[in-house]
Amino acid sequence: MSKPVSICVIGSGYVGLVAAVCFAEIGHRVICVDNDEARVKTLNEGGVPIFEDQLPELLERHRDKGVEFTTNLGQAVEASEAIFIAVGTPQGDTGAADLSYVEAVVSEIARGISDYKVIVEKSTVPVYTNEWIRRVLHRHGVDPKDFDIVSNPEFLREGTAIKDFMHPDRIVVGTTSERAAGVLQRIYEPLTGGSYYEQPGAMKGACSKENPAKLLVTSAQSAEIIKHASNAFLALKISFINAVANLAEAVDADIEDIAAGMGMDSRIGPKFLRAGLGYGGSCFPKDVAAFHWVAQQHGIDFQLLREIRKINETQKDVFFNKVLSALWTLRGKKLAALGLAFKGNTDDIRESPALEVIRKLLDAGAIVTAYDPAGMDRAKEVLPGSAKMRYADDLYSAAADADAVLILTDWKEFGTIDLVKLNRVVKFPIVVDGRNLYKPQTMLDHGFTYVSVGRPAGYQAQQGKPRSMVS
Ligand code: NAD
Ligand code: UGA
Repeated sequence: MSKPVSICVIGSGYVGLVAAVCFAEIGHRVICVDNDEARVKTLNEGGVPIFEDQLPELLERHRDKGVEFTTNLGQAVEASEAIFIAVGTPQGDTGAADLSYVEAVVSEIARGISDYKVIVEKSTVPVYTNEWIRRVLHRHGVDPKDFDIVSNPEFLREGTAIKDFMHPDRIVVGTTSERAAGVLQRIYEPLTGGSYYEQPGAMKGACSKENPAKLLVTSAQSAEIIKHASNAFLALKISFINAVANLAEAVDADIEDIAAGMGMDSRIGPKFLRAGLGYGGSCFPKDVAAFHWVAQQHGIDFQLLREIRKINETQKDVFFNKVLSALWTLRGKKLAALGLAFKGNTDDIRESPALEVIRKLLDAGAIVTAYDPAGMDRAKEVLPGSAKMRYADDLYSAAADADAVLILTDWKEFGTIDLVKLNRVVKFPIVVDGRNLYKPQTMLDHGFTYVSVGRPAGYQAQQGKPRSMVS
C-alpha cells in the first residue's frame, strides 16, 4: 500500500462519516470534524448517529485508532494534508444550492492553513464552486502556493453507502494540478491498485485485485458537472419509468414487464427503472433543481429538467388518487402507512415521498398509523403531532383494524409480509402498494384487493368494484 495520508473530513453526516471510516479502513489517518457538539460526543462515546449498513462495525474497528472525532476544525486542518468538505448543500429558495455551509467551512479552513493543503469538494456543489473556494481563500490572505482545490464528488447511496464507497463504479478527481491529483491518487490507491481487496477481512463487492476501482481525472468544472448530471440522469430514468407506468395503467399493460423488457437492452440497463412514488431523499430533488438553476445561470434552457421534476411531483398525487379511488372517501378512514423513510434500508426521511403522501392523507381527514423499521424517530419530529397521526411498533400493529394498508417505502420487511396474518388483522383486505413489492396474483390469492403502480389493479370479486375504479 502507498504511504498513509493524513486526512481531515469536515461534516460527519451520511457522506462525511462514511468517507471518514472508509479512509481509515484503507489505511489513512483521519480526523472527522463536525460543529454539532452532540453528534461528536455521541461518536466519541461509541454511538452511531445514523442508520447505515456496516457502519457500526467499521466505527468500532477504527474509532480512536484510524479515525478520531472533534469539533476543533482549525487543529484538524493544521494536522492534515487533504481536507474533505462534506457538509450539507441544501436547496435554497431559488432552487440554487445553498452554499453557506461550504463558505463558512472554507473561511475556517483558511485560518488553519500554514503549509500546502489539498482542499477537496466532496459535497455536491454547482459548477465553479472550486473557483469560489479559491476566491474565498484569497480573500482570507492564503498564499495560492499553499493550496489546491479538487472536486471529488461522492456517488454513494444511503443504505449501501459503505459498500458503494469501497467498491465504487468510478472515482472522479477534478483538478488541473498534478500535485493535488497525486495526493488524491495516493489516497485512493488501495482501491485503484486493488491491494485493499486482498486484505484479510476486506469488504466484499464488485471490485477486486483483478478488477480494481477506476479513477478518472478531469477538470474541476467537469467533475462538478459529472455529479449533477449523474444525479439528474438517474432522476430522469425514474421519472421516465413513472410516466410510462401511468400509460401502462391506462392500457392494462404491466410496468414490471415493460421495465424488464427495456432493461434487457444493454444500452438502457435494468437499474433505476422501478416505478413507484417518485424519487425523494436529500439529493435527487435538490440536485435536479440546482442543476436546472446552474444551466439557467449560464443561459441554457434545460427544459427536460423541469419535466423530470414535474413528473416526480405528480407521481405523489397519482398515488393519493389511487388510495382515494380504492376507498371512495378518506375522512375518518383508518390507514396503515408502511414506511416513512425516503427508501428502504435508511433512517433518512428528508424529502420522503412517504411523508408527503401521509400529509395529503391527513389533510383529507384520514387517520394514519405508521410503521417504519428505522425512520420513526425522525418522522415524529416533522409530521404533525395529532390524534390522527399514530405510530405502531410493527407492521401488523399498524395494520390492525385498518380500512387499507399502504406500502410507501421499499423496506425488505414490507416485501415479505405474512399475508395470512395481515388479512386477519385488517378491517378490509385492501393494499395500495406504491412500491410494487408484490405480484398482483399473489395478493389476489391471499384475498386482497391490490392496487399498485403501472399494473392492472386486482379486485376481490366479493368486494365489488365501483365504477370510479375503472377510470
Ligand atoms: P448531512 O446533513 O447528513 O451531514 C452534514 C454534516 O455537516 C452535519 O453533521 C453538520 O452538522 C455538519 N456541518 C455543517 N456545517 C458545519 C461546519 N461549519 N463545520 C463542521 N461541520 C458542519 O449531509 P450529507 O447527507 O452527508 O450530505 C453532505 C453533502 O454530500 C451534500 O452536498 C450532499 O448533496 C452530498 N451527497 C450526499 C449523499 C447522500 O447519500 N446523503 C451522497 C452523495 C453526495
Ligand atoms: C442517490 C444516488 O443514487 C447516489 O449515486 C448519489 O450519490 C446520491 O443520490 C446523492 O447524491 O446523494 P440516494 O439518494 O441515497 O442516492 O438513493 P437512491 O437509491 O438513488 O434513491 C433515490 C430515490 O429514488 C428514492 O426515493 C428511491 O426510492 C427512488 N428510486 C430509486 C425509484 O423510485 N426508482 C428506482 O428505480 C430507483
